[in-house]
Amino acid sequence: MDTIVKPARRMIGTIQVPGDKSISHRLAILGAIAEGQTFIDNFASSQDCQSTLSCLRLLGVPIETSEAGRVTLSGQGLRGLTPPRETLDARNSGSTIRMLSGVLAGQSFRTEITGDASLRRRPMGRIIAPLTQMGATIQAREGNYPPLSIQGGPLRSIHYLMPVASAQVKSAVLLAGLLAEGETYVTEPVSSRNHTEVALKEFGAEVHFRENRISLKGGQRLRGVKARVPGDISSAAFFLVASALLPESEIVLTDVGMNPGRSLIIHLLQGMGASIEVLNQQTRAGEPVADLRVKPGSLTGGTLSGESIPQVIDEIPILAVLGTQSEKGLEIRDAAELRVKESDRIKSIVQNLRSMGASVEEFADGMFVPGRQSLQGARIHTHDDHRIAMAFAVAALIAKGASVIEGSECTAVSFPGFFELLDRVAVR
Ligand code: S3P
Repeated sequence: MDTIVKPARRMIGTIQVPGDKSISHRLAILGAIAEGQTFIDNFASSQDCQSTLSCLRLLGVPIETSEAGRVTLSGQGLRGLTPPRETLDARNSGSTIRMLSGVLAGQSFRTEITGDASLRRRPMGRIIAPLTQMGATIQAREGNYPPLSIQGGPLRSIHYLMPVASAQVKSAVLLAGLLAEGETYVTEPVSSRNHTEVALKEFGAEVHFRENRISLKGGQRLRGVKARVPGDISSAAFFLVASALLPESEIVLTDVGMNPGRSLIIHLLQGMGASIEVLNQQTRAGEPVADLRVKPGSLTGGTLSGESIPQVIDEIPILAVLGTQSEKGLEIRDAAELRVKESDRIKSIVQNLRSMGASVEEFADGMFVPGRQSLQGARIHTHDDHRIAMAFAVAALIAKGASVIEGSECTAVSFPGFFELLDRVAVR
């Protein structure tokens, strides 16, 4: 589907973005292997999280969903899942396939799991390696790509030194560690989001941290929880940047998740000159939450690299758009991981910025986006990547002339209702 996005003068209003995708996946997966019921309010409406629920249902987990956004799961215990009668379909969701693989590695049956064309091109060797060391047998296309065939069984604990900073890989190993004999240690090269560790504690597990090393003992039983998911900061990011860029904007985003591993976007925007007030801070189910009031400023730009990258990995498409409007431009380095996301995001960003008339230099691990550039409305090739579609919808607001976002329905992967919300707050 094509969606036309016209330029806007400013952004005004109060909005709530959908529940956090990362947190929703984890609460659902842990709820499925806990004992007793788990009640999750404001569960992400995103297609990705619906994929996790449909996989869990096929694994024998009774799940009810209400119109009001509550998901209720009846936990089956650590080893109570049952063999699915068909191939599990994670569709577009890397989190679903990678994290569930950790759980499936410890079940006493074989599971086939696959996804859509984009997911079938994404590397799974990164979870196959540790899960195989732990005792699972996993077959994959070319040893690396879905579909995966996972023969689970008794697992042994490992000390795993992760070659890439990835919260999905860390989570897969920790979930398998919960089902393993002994204590599992995971060391990250650079810290990534810690929602799994936070959620495990909420479900009653003991998890230990020391610098970049996380450990947990296998066999710990989880008990069901009642939790409310905060709004997704990675979805909020599109509105934060749009309001930071358009003069005389003022947007309030209510109930946004502020996990320290995810909130660098706020500090970056503040550091560059936007005004973001952080209001009503609280902690719910171990996760910090706040309301945000955003007003524009002249943004300086700068360099993003090293340890910062995993903390803004999903925000880079929208930050690249911001770069075009900054004073000094934005350089992004150490971000080769972007090439194995829902699309090759470095290529997708560079291609679309160029089609809007901007200049940008591409590197193997990032890009340089010069500042003070004006954008022209264009036809945007989303490559069916939700974050590319939304980042360039924001670019369209600040461009001259209308833009067409091709395949705009992909935004439902993380943010159903994105265009309606954008229309509600964009003043033309
Ligand atoms: C996620 C982790 C990140 C992120 C993805 C969600 C998660 O991926 O890009 O959108 O929920 O753990 P990696 O862990 O592969 O970096």
